[in-house]
Amino acid sequence: MKVIGIIGSMRGKNSREYEIIKRYLKSEKYKNAAIKILTADSLNINFCQGCCSCFNTGICPLDSKDDMKKVKTDLLEADLIIVSSPVYAHQVSGFMKNLIDRLSYWSHTFHLIGKHVIICTSTASSGSEYVLSYLKKIMSALGCIVIGELNVTNITSVDELNEQFQHIEIALSESLNNFDNINITTFQHVLFKSLRTNLIKVNGYEHNYWMNNHMFNYFTFKDYLMYKLSLQKKQSVDKKFEISL
Ligand SMILES: Cc1cc2nc3c(=O)[nH]c(=O)nc-3n(C[C@H](O)[C@H](O)[C@H](O)COP(=O)(O)O)c2cc1C
Repeated sequence: MKVIGIIGSMRGKNSREYEIIKRYLKSEKYKNAAIKILTADSLNINFCQGCCSCFNTGICPLDSKDDMKKVKTDLLEADLIIVSSPVYAHQVSGFMKNLIDRLSYWSHTFHLIGKHVIICTSTASSGSEYVLSYLKKIMSALGCIVIGELNVTNITSVDELNEQFQHIEIALSESLNNFDNINITTFQHVLFKSLRTNLIKVNGYEHNYWMNNHMFNYFTFKDYLMYKLSLQKKQSVDKKFEISL
């Protein structure tokens, strides 16, 4: 299992988010996982320039100039993504917003379809509800399955934190073991339908992406997700078979 964590705090390894995520990943479940944690202070991500090249061509001209290409590769290769931001003025940090802007064209193509996500935030006392609901919405728009959240304030006890870890463990196992347990949001359903209706009529990069990935064959997000998950399952069985040969 590949796990990628992205922490939107410039305090990097000194941040509380880093400490919590590290603690969570110590669980037996991740013993054999390949884990990578990227922190805001270790990444150079430029501001989106608003050129819309990503929406029109699938290519961002900034990707060759900063670390975004690396981040995208890590996200695409991951089985589990942990997205984390401190609460700054009742929202995500500037770094995290910047990163999301650079990824937002993937919300028209569901590039991260079926990837499991844990969202995390740390706050002194208030504002976590805005950060959690924003991160949840954005990751859903990218096609991810948000399985749980870590929410820490200055007064969160170790017991409360362990309880949050446990909830995530249960949700992750249920989601991985049975496709029927996967939680699809109304937002994903509506987004898929409206994009499908619009993109089927308009030629261009996004239309071609949907065409090449057989997305127009599916009328709902759930049907497309089930198709992708069964494809991934088949690929992993084929891979195991190749290795055993
Ligand atoms: C610019 C800035 C804005 C902040 N805004 C809030 C806020 O709105 N509400 C709050 O309770 N704490 C706020 N804080 C405190 C941080 O959310 C808190 O210290 C958090 O635990 C930092 O997480 P980290 O250690 O993972 O970086 C703010 C901190 C900074 C630096």
